[in-house]
Amino acid sequence: MAKSSATFVCQSCGSTTTKWSGRCDACGEWNSIVEEVPLAAGPATKTLGASKGRSLPLSDLSGHEAPPPRTMSRLDELDRVLGGGLVPASALLVGGDPGIGKSTLLLQAAAAFANAGLKVIYISGEEASAQVRMRAARLGLRDAPVKLATETNLRDILTTLENEKPDLAIIDSIQTMWADNVSSAPGSVSQVRASAHELTSFAKRRGTSVILVGHVTKDGQIAGPRVVEHMVDTVLYFEGERGHQFRILRAVKNRFGPADEIGVFEMTGSGLAEVANPSALFLSERGDPSPGSSVFAGIEGTRPVLVEFQALVAPTPHSQPRRSVVGWDGGRLAMILAVLEARCGIPFAGLDVYLNVAGGMKVSEPAADLAVAAALLSAREDIALPAETVVFGEISLSGALRPVGQTENRLKEAQKLGFTAAIVPKGGKSVPRDGITATEIDALASFVGDVFGAG
Ligand code: TYD
Ligand code: MG
Repeated sequence: MAKSSATFVCQSCGSTTTKWSGRCDACGEWNSIVEEVPLAAGPATKTLGASKGRSLPLSDLSGHEAPPPRTMSRLDELDRVLGGGLVPASALLVGGDPGIGKSTLLLQAAAAFANAGLKVIYISGEEASAQVRMRAARLGLRDAPVKLATETNLRDILTTLENEKPDLAIIDSIQTMWADNVSSAPGSVSQVRASAHELTSFAKRRGTSVILVGHVTKDGQIAGPRVVEHMVDTVLYFEGERGHQFRILRAVKNRFGPADEIGVFEMTGSGLAEVANPSALFLSERGDPSPGSSVFAGIEGTRPVLVEFQALVAPTPHSQPRRSVVGWDGGRLAMILAVLEARCGIPFAGLDVYLNVAGGMKVSEPAADLAVAAALLSAREDIALPAETVVFGEISLSGALRPVGQTENRLKEAQKLGFTAAIVPKGGKSVPRDGITATEIDALASFVGDVFGAG
């Protein structure tokens, strides 16, 4: 007999089914479906509208609302990503790979907000108090007025928060929290969803800001539920390559500020240091101009950032050539290779292609298309691009170059870092600047002709 109370929940995407299967139909993940007892659905006999509720007071849109008072941590990179400081009663999710530095970042943030006058409670469900204190000592934050607890029982945590009424509570991590009214194991979708719901509604009810830490699975989702992303006001991802010391805090959703804003940090022996000039950092490993390298003048959030694209093109020993990308979209690389072949007559068949963004940075702007094409061509032809030149522009399937936004800011940043030339799409709003010459081109084919002598 089928039990009507049980549902099967995919631990990767959170979709529910009525029977178990080896592979989730929604996200395609294998072995991710687990039986869970659903949250109490409440009396389901009548529809809600059938019995009388309370009539809500309605207002109109014209009222004047003062912007919420924000608290600055004075960690500029963090404040910028938050959209100008922490908003009271907001719920945030900070996701990232295990070991990337989330606990370090949040302990530093806790201390910074505490020093700025907020009452801060840091609750660790993963580490013992002694471990957190050791980290605090290493970060030089022993004297910060942060209250610390180690607990995973959500009921006890909520009681503590009700009594203490902090301005900010940090929960590290949401996957270790355990609500005793939900019977599935900690870390399961039901538990994470219930815990996040309790904590975010506590935030709204009591005016406490809550920061939830979430681990990310290997394919880049916050482990278990994407649902948590919908519950919170702000979703930040802490990313970076393990082998590099750079860490990027990126706002992927922000109800109180611009999304796509980034803050750049460097992991040092004594915690995360802010990087005020990321372009210089990302280009710091660049030597003399070599084939396969191009410099992209990008925009991350509100800030221009220069990054280096590196490409390697080599004859393949296999029947199926390799296409390998780090820091850029694989589908977009395939598109650019196809445009180069179809519109410029430059084939990449029989060649392995590797593309990398230096410094562990991830680029998602289509404006980087031209920089990618430049790196690929330079690698294929074994000709270095002219030194001190930056490149940007979006490539359309027709092979035409499309203008991109913020030409002015891109050129300004390039000039600041000592670049003297730029290759840009025609039609962008660029005002001539002293010290940097912008060459405007309208099609990828003419770029190939200009820079590589007809390819
Ligand atoms: P942690 O904050 O524990 O990561 P997470 O909470 O995301 O799992 O950081 C772990 C790594 O950071 C660890 O490998 C050591 C390194 N680290 C430093 O390099 N310097 C430091 O000052 C600290 C505290 C950590
Ligand atoms: Mg941690």
